[in-house]
Amino acid sequence: MADNILIKNKKSWDAMADSWFGTTALPTYGCLIPTEDELKLFPDLRGKKVLDIGCGSGHSLKWCGDNGVSELWGLDMSTKQIENARKFLNENGYAPTLFNSPMELDCGLPKEYFDIVYSIYAIGWTVDLQTTFNNIATYLKKDGVFIFSWDHPIMHCVDVQDDKIIFKGCYLNEDIFSYIQHGNPVTIKNRKLSTYINALVKAGFMVEQLVEETNDVTLTWPAEFSSGYYTPYKAKKFPLSFIIKARKILLRPMSK
Ligand SMILES: C[S@@+](CC[C@H](N)C(=O)[O-])C[C@H]1O[C@@H](n2cnc3c(N)ncnc32)[C@H](O)[C@@H]1O
Repeated sequence: MADNILIKNKKSWDAMADSWFGTTALPTYGCLIPTEDELKLFPDLRGKKVLDIGCGSGHSLKWCGDNGVSELWGLDMSTKQIENARKFLNENGYAPTLFNSPMELDCGLPKEYFDIVYSIYAIGWTVDLQTTFNNIATYLKKDGVFIFSWDHPIMHCVDVQDDKIIFKGCYLNEDIFSYIQHGNPVTIKNRKLSTYINALVKAGFMVEQLVEETNDVTLTWPAEFSSGYYTPYKAKKFPLSFIIKARKILLRPMSK
């Protein structure tokens, strides 16, 4: 079943790659949350080897290049995203090493090699979170840093009805569900925040920071009610995205 989901999601990401060109990329972490310029979660990037998981169009990798990294590596299961990223980065003077593979597979990336692995709005697409975190841990050097952002799990529990936000779901249910994104069917799984944190710990990480914030501009904005998914009205009440910064402290993951 997981393989089936990957095949279908890949087809959809290939079809919609162009409509995601540079949409979620560093220094932006997500929706209406503080940026890297404000949070400063990344260490000094000069001379570092970085790997982007779900690199999309390569805009986050460009940001890393502009900040002085020595090696740019990226992984994405969408062939079209990889093509877009390669073209975009080459046009900007960078020569990245890009892997066209699902993050769940060992695709031959070097082990204990990277100073920093990050992922901006891609980790939640994994069909196997523990294997993905275990893989990421093996790519990192000991004491290397892993930073990722994703939709806050509370987003799956709320909906809008008339002019109100209502609690529609169950935070505890880690359901797999499908929906249409940019005209294409995609399948994804809900996960609790604790599921991410516990999987990180099992993979040999220590969590250094969990960011659950809305940015200051939004908080001071007199936002009217509106019915979209990512709205300032919601963001004034709860974070729309979360960010985790973790450090690899064990040489080997604790569990498969
Ligand atoms: C919202 S985009 C991320 C944008 C990107 N981080 C950037 O900085 O431009 C999500 C990306 O995750 C990729 N993706 C989805 N599922 C994946 C998987 N299982 N393995 C690897 N990449 C995946 C998609 O192809 C897509 O490029």
